[in-house]
Formats: sequence, structure tokens, C-alpha cells
Amino acid sequence: MKNYTKISDINNLNQTIKDAIQLKVNPFQYQSLGKQKTLVMLFFNSSLRTRLSTEKAAKQLGMDVMILNVNDAWNLEFEDGAIMKMDKSEHVKEAAQVISQYADIIAIRAFPTLIDKQKDTSEFVLNSFLKYTSVPIVNMESATAHPLQALADAITIEELKSLAKPKVVLSWAPHPKALPQAVANSFIEMMQYLDVDLTITHPKGYELSNNVVKNTKVSYHQNEALKDADFVYVKNWSSYKHYGEILSQDSNWMMTKTKLGTAKFMHCLPVRRNSVVEDAVLDSEQSVVIQQANNRTFSAQIVLKQILENL
Ligand code: CP
Repeated sequence: MKNYTKISDINNLNQTIKDAIQLKVNPFQYQSLGKQKTLVMLFFNSSLRTRLSTEKAAKQLGMDVMILNVNDAWNLEFEDGAIMKMDKSEHVKEAAQVISQYADIIAIRAFPTLIDKQKDTSEFVLNSFLKYTSVPIVNMESATAHPLQALADAITIEELKSLAKPKVVLSWAPHPKALPQAVANSFIEMMQYLDVDLTITHPKGYELSNNVVKNTKVSYHQNEALKDADFVYVKNWSSYKHYGEILSQDSNWMMTKTKLGTAKFMHCLPVRRNSVVEDAVLDSEQSVVIQQANNRTFSAQIVLKQILENL
């Protein structure tokens, strides 16, 4: 693997999922692979799981890890030809080349503006680094995608499924803040690659990009969509059509134990209790969110392993 900026960077997805599960048996079996190699992690935004699990994954492969909270560094300019007289002190052209000299792999987290749809869709942060760095790039959640999370989700479903083709439902839920579409986008894309029966459910106005949804079933009726589900993945996202807007705070869309039925409950975390999902779900054995978060280590580790093998 050269970079992991999108799910399609994985050559053989089913084998990669199996290999990630196998890593759990002995996480240190490839410790010599990352010896004298450095992962630099750049965070433009907050993180708990991505930060810790990716660092853990790299260290289990024997890598050194350096972390930069980009907001503590010089304010970066991304526009070509900008006249830099205002608040931006350094251009990404220099910054990316400099960081490349310190890193064997660079991992980046950069959320969308949720204001400028065109700019966000262009993935200007991720693509600027891809353009100006000379080392592989890993996407730790960009403006439109969270492929490491989606791989962890696929690993979790593979571990827990009892049917060859489980019914998976992605349900929107209310949230007080405007959130990106990235997790939902990548989850849908991942499920489309796998042998699952996927339904998306959300209120009107929350339609995701046609480029993501493609032919996947969409229902505006949550209860209908949830019928006979094996896995229910709950996630809020802000409107894509009315870009970045919160169109509904309808608490009837919150996930409850009654609505969940016998399905397993999935969420990428962090999650707001009794706003997105009620306590009774998160505190039940049907919730697999902790296992999902554990699998973030192994999704990152299998990706880093495949990149290290290609260096
Ligand atoms: N799910 C996830 O990416 O968690 P963090 O935002 O805490 O990294």
C-alpha cells in the first residue's frame, strides 16, 4: 500500500480484515518492521481514539511516533499564490516538505469547514500534503472520509456477525452541534464493498452525496428501516444539501433499547448519552462500541504494516 487516504487504497479488503483480526493474536509479531521508522501524526482537530490507537499501532510495529497539534505550530496557508500578509505564517509547500524529512509516514486529521462545501469536497488539506510530501500519507479523518474508522467497523462486524449476509442499518440521530459527514460516508462505502444488506435511514434534508449513497436503500422511516436489523450503526451528520446546517433536533430519532430490538449497537464514539442514544443501549450487552474502539488499533496497525512493507 502506498497511502491510505481512502478505502479503495486497500488492495484485498477481505484478506486485510482477516489479517487485522489475526494481528490481535500477537500484536507484536511484526515489531522489527517499523524499527528505525518514524510516524508523524498531525492533528488539526481533537481526538481521543484515533490519536491513542494509531500511536499504539505504530509502537506495536516497532515505530517511533511524533505528534504535532498543528494549532500549536505556525498557522498554515494552503492557497497557491497567496500574498501572505495576514495571519498565515507558513505555506503548506514548505511545511509538508520539512515534515517529510522527519517522517517515514505522515498521518493527518483535518476536519471540514462545514461552511465551504467546494473547499471541503476538494480535500484541500489532505491533498496539499499528498502533493508536497515525499512519504506515504494516512488519513486519520479528513473533510469527507474516515477510512481507518470504517476499517475498524468492518473488522467488528466480521468478528460478530452470525449470518453470512447480515442486515446493517446506518441511522442518523440528533446532535446539538453540526458534525461532518465523514464517518457516515466511509461506513457506507465500506459496507458497499462487503457482503451485507445495508439500509440508510435519516430525516428528509439529510441526504448524503449521491456519489456516496449510489444504489443503497434509503428510508425516511427509522422504525421501518430498523426491522430485523443485525447491526445498527448510529451517527449524526449535518445536512449535505443545506451544507453544514442542523435541520432537525428531533429526539424521536434518538436510539432506544426498544427500537434497537435484538441488533448490535455500533457507534464510532465519542457519543452523547441520552441525546444520540439512551443509557439503556450503551449499558447493555448489545452495545459493541468498546470493541469497535479497540479495533481502531488493529485497523491502524494493518494499514501501517502494509505501508511499511512497501517502503
Ligand atoms: N472515532 C474517532 O475517530 O474517535 P476520536 O475522534 O476520539 O479520534
